[in-house]
Amino acid sequence: MDKMKDLKIITKDSLVSNDDLRDIKKNLMKEIFRLKNINNEIEYKDPRSSINLPYDHNLLEKINKAIEEKKELNPSYLIVVGIGGSNLGAMAIQEAVLGKLYNQLNPKTKVLYADTVDSDLINDIISIIEPALKNGENVLINGISKSGGTTETVANFEILIDLLKKYKKDYNKYVIVTSDKDSKFWNFAANEGFTTLEIPNEVVGRYSVLSAVGLFPLGIMGINIKNLIQGAKDITQRCIDENIEKNPAAISASLIFMHYKDKKNIHNTFLFSPDMESIGKWYNQLMGESIGKEFNLKDEPVRVGITPTVSIGSTDLHSMVQLYLAGPNDKLTTFVKVRNNKAEIKIPNNEDYSKLVKGIQEKKLQSIIDAIYEGVIKAYRNRKRAFIEIHLDDKTEYSIGQFIQFKMIEIMYLGYLFEINPFNQPNVEEYKTETKIILEKE
Ligand code: PA5
Repeated sequence: MDKMKDLKIITKDSLVSNDDLRDIKKNLMKEIFRLKNINNEIEYKDPRSSINLPYDHNLLEKINKAIEEKKELNPSYLIVVGIGGSNLGAMAIQEAVLGKLYNQLNPKTKVLYADTVDSDLINDIISIIEPALKNGENVLINGISKSGGTTETVANFEILIDLLKKYKKDYNKYVIVTSDKDSKFWNFAANEGFTTLEIPNEVVGRYSVLSAVGLFPLGIMGINIKNLIQGAKDITQRCIDENIEKNPAAISASLIFMHYKDKKNIHNTFLFSPDMESIGKWYNQLMGESIGKEFNLKDEPVRVGITPTVSIGSTDLHSMVQLYLAGPNDKLTTFVKVRNNKAEIKIPNNEDYSKLVKGIQEKKLQSIIDAIYEGVIKAYRNRKRAFIEIHLDDKTEYSIGQFIQFKMIEIMYLGYLFEINPFNQPNVEEYKTETKIILEKE
């Protein structure tokens, strides 16, 4: 692939001295070697092996086969039923690559997400797909749950399958269940004759976007899986490079960690692309659940965590930047800039309008957003607010594949520096158990 398309990390405004950074980065060597070893063979013995998903030909073959098979049905809708790690990744990549207004652009297959148990949301989904079903159109339902027992997912799945049954005698061929092999959900799906797609046992929900969890729905939408995977593979090699100066995940994790030690326990991902907002939400889960922990690896109480926030440029310059520049200096910001948008739009040259705002006539929108970006960078620099910059060439599958894999490896390194387990979520399970107790009592 073209080197120009490589993700770039710029750290000159991180406000961390080179000596300090060198020391922290050195601490990561052991973990870098561990990931390097894991990357040498495709086996799922450790949760870190999710980095190998893009290399797993067997798995990819099965996913591609299911995509081809279900595309033959010409579905006019795909409904993704899942929550958290089971839907945020697909939504994030879909919006980044295909745009936030994907459904309104009349694609062959529109996509709807059923995540929480909100009767209005589910009613709206029903109101959209029932006329299509009545009209004889096809609707795919992809139920996704790693554990196979998440209340919200099972409730929504049951409602939607019931609707599908009303209109399709052979309803089972429109249903795909993605889960751990032999989970309750998996076994139920196999009994019903639904298509099943496996999540490798050791792969944790929020690191699973490059398994069938993300790839199946994305493939149905027409995302180029091959390029997405290639981007993820290429960045993996850079992110397990023992030459830490060239390793973007190690650099980013070290900087986030150093700023946490310096009382900056908020990390703001400031994306200069509205289509990437859901990538920010996906990263919220990745950082929030992975790093927010009560105990360290030795089971000692530590109560660590970084609060992730998402901002969109230039939208949030008009709502949040007053706080960011003038308020408490408690945040590290990662700016994400996309160098090239797909569309090129120019402002017309109209005398009357030049009186309203000077300097924009006949300019491309890209050059205006670039000027705004430079303005923000300068303002942060003048105010001595620490930041990192990530530059993406574009929002193609290849570039987005690089970004998400880079962030998943960054969080693994961050977990290592914090000496906590970045792969469990014991306190998410707390609410799940309590909910089940309440519902079973009722
Ligand atoms: O990262 C995680 O494991 C969780 O946040 C899950 O993604 C979320 O709770 C959904 O769980 P499941 O995929 O088991 O339905």
